[in-house]
Amino acid sequence: MIPRYLVNFDLDRMRRERTDVVVVGAGIAGLYTALQVSTYADAILISKKKLDDSNTRWAQGGIAAVTAKSDSPALHRQDTLVAGAGLCSDEAVEVLVHEGPERLKELIEYGTQFDKDDQGRYELTREGAHSKRRILHAQGDATGAEIVRALSERVRETPRITVLEDHFVVDVVTHEEQCVGVLAIPPDGEMFFIQSNATVLATGGAGQLYRYTTNPDIATADGIAMAYRAGADIKDVEFIQFHPTALYYPGAPRFLISEAVRGEGAILRNINGERFMEQYHQQKELAPRDVVARAIVAEMEKTNSAYVYLDITHEPEELIKHRFPTIYKFCLQYGLDMVTDWIPVAPACHYIMGGVRTDLHGETATSRLFACGEVSCTGVHGANRLASNSLSEAVVFGHRIAERIKQLAPRESLPPIRFEQPREHRPSNPMQQRVKLQKLMLRHVGLKRHEKGLRKASHEMERMKRLFHYEHHTKEAFEFLNLLNAALLTTHAALLREESRGGHYRSDFPQKDDLIWRKHIIQSIKDGVREEGSIGHVE
Ligand code: SIN
Repeated sequence: MIPRYLVNFDLDRMRRERTDVVVVGAGIAGLYTALQVSTYADAILISKKKLDDSNTRWAQGGIAAVTAKSDSPALHRQDTLVAGAGLCSDEAVEVLVHEGPERLKELIEYGTQFDKDDQGRYELTREGAHSKRRILHAQGDATGAEIVRALSERVRETPRITVLEDHFVVDVVTHEEQCVGVLAIPPDGEMFFIQSNATVLATGGAGQLYRYTTNPDIATADGIAMAYRAGADIKDVEFIQFHPTALYYPGAPRFLISEAVRGEGAILRNINGERFMEQYHQQKELAPRDVVARAIVAEMEKTNSAYVYLDITHEPEELIKHRFPTIYKFCLQYGLDMVTDWIPVAPACHYIMGGVRTDLHGETATSRLFACGEVSCTGVHGANRLASNSLSEAVVFGHRIAERIKQLAPRESLPPIRFEQPREHRPSNPMQQRVKLQKLMLRHVGLKRHEKGLRKASHEMERMKRLFHYEHHTKEAFEFLNLLNAALLTTHAALLREESRGGHYRSDFPQKDDLIWRKHIIQSIKDGVREEGSIGHVE
């Protein structure tokens, strides 16, 4: 059994802070939601590291929203639904494509400077599975960094937002199925309680589930695990997106080589130099991500190689350096010049489509607990996210969450809340355990899955569950437990879904099976596992 809380506590014996809204996480979802809330309430924004050190900072490609006359919400909707492989929520996608442009204007008002052409019009790029150029970007390929710069500057200037950096949130506290606040650990300090009227999880993704990921080391599935323990529904976590093109070079991290590079004309070649994507999909290099990632793996297997090449050498030097300054400089550190060299790449874990299930106002099944951004499952992404829809989703639903929280009645005072369970005093090595888990996930719950491997992974993870009952004190230990919690949920859902769709591929069930599987897998600590939806009634 996974215990309700990772720590024992007694609120009456702890330091207590109070605020209207706690926002956990400082990527685009957290920063933006805190700013929106600050127009009518006080907020505490908690960041696991420094304010500018989030997953958003690494986003390259851009933000998808309809701004061009030749484009329309209907086309954006269609592209999102096609990429989502039959599991998107129609209503959530409608919200995204219609409200995205308005939220984009707010991002600009908050100070984000997107790239413009010589005539002062926003430059629009294309990425996989988009039928139009509709992606705004900043400083070429540093869109996330620019958004984080603008929003965090604004947050620091906003008196109603208190920022707590380097604080780790261990759990959200509930009373009678309502969220009442969070347990936070300051750097080198004692755990304390922050009581709130509403709590927003904006903790980002789960890339650290895998040995190879484009995500930074903070992406440890904290929000999914905390929300699960608090009784919220976890939906569709078997759908994991592997980005097709992460740098693969000895000594280099799996640095993201943006899909926009293919959007601007780059092609994929196997190690024999042969272009191969036309054999796999009519949209070739710009097919949906899951298709491109699996095609790359198939070519790697065929040629017995650990990578393929991304080739943009046929494009003008000017374009490469102007559009992709960050990637260009990064590769150059390793002696790879994109202007003249093919770049070795391989897929790496990038994004989790599933997460904490929310309604159209970001509220979870646990009352007064909200989820925003990658941690959430609003229904927008279905089984496979359309490129650059994640930043748009964060601001669209961040705004809706702030609107919803405005209507919440103040809560009555809290009774005493404590949690006690026997815990063993034993040493553990969380970083070593993390690596073990990551290898297990990559091998058996990665891009290609099979019942045998999934069962093996599940068995190993079940054995690791004893660690939930040890006494832990460090951030690394809590992060590992959150990863283990999320790994169990992902593996379980992957075993159940006996078909292949989007970011879930079973070699023993290689076809999509709409008749049985056009539905969602929901897991919760309260109600166990349930399936939801059926043909014609996908939520
Ligand atoms: C990329 O630049 O390829 C990543 C964009 C995204 O994940 O949406």
